[in-house]
Amino acid sequence: MDTNENPPENVGLENTSLPSVWDRQLAENSDFYKMAFQFQQIMMVYESAIKQLETKLDILNKENKVLGRRNPIETVKSRIKSPESIAKKLEKKKLPVTFQSMMANLTDIAGVRVICPYISDIYAVRDMLLKQPDIQLIEQNDYIESPKESGYRSLHLVIEIPVYLSETVHKVKVEIQLRTIAMDFWACLEHELRYKTTTKVPDSVRRELFRVAETIAMTDREMEEIAFELQAIE
Ligand code: GTP
Ligand code: MG
Repeated sequence: MDTNENPPENVGLENTSLPSVWDRQLAENSDFYKMAFQFQQIMMVYESAIKQLETKLDILNKENKVLGRRNPIETVKSRIKSPESIAKKLEKKKLPVTFQSMMANLTDIAGVRVICPYISDIYAVRDMLLKQPDIQLIEQNDYIESPKESGYRSLHLVIEIPVYLSETVHKVKVEIQLRTIAMDFWACLEHELRYKTTTKVPDSVRRELFRVAETIAMTDREMEEIAFELQAIE
């Protein structure tokens, strides 16, 4: 809400006894306003970190295009964790549901997903990003080398990137998930299936999904081999 704006006409509200939300002083002194303002500021910093990463990935894309190289990045998707998910995750971890706690304990408030054509592209993009001096690696989980129990595969990185504001610098954590088109296909559908089911997913379905993940992983490796073979004869 822009509090500098003139109050609008209270059309149809002439008989209400509620205080006007346009009372600026009342709004600024309320706990609601203070918390909303603080949350907005924090989220702005996380959004800026995402923007920087997106720009870095876009620059790598453009460089490859100019050099006439094949692009190792198919798509980039980003998201900011919703307040509901933030609170749920903190509660699940039995941590205080406060701004301080969320910033100190959650590493996936800002998330960037990079989808690559081939498995080798994932590691190439990872290396390109980590070579940049303003990006610091905090954590790496290679679920391609060691898939999750579900069959899930992706390379997860938690990185820290500085966000420069007018008077302060904030080191912001961003979770980057790198995966192939095929891994993304499986993860999106499996997530949707699990999300849609209110009851526990039966073991037989879990085994089926795991089997499909294995088939997809094999296809990924075969496609990569074909690409290498073609490269060799070019
Ligand atoms: P969190 O407590 O949620 O962070 O879990 P974690 O630390 O055990 O796992 P990690 O942070 O490495 O991965 C969490 C994210 O990976 C999830 O938010 C999903 O986006 C993705 N993910 C992990 N496992 C699965 C899975 O089995 N299926 C799908 N579709 N996505 C998964
Ligand atoms: Mg995690």
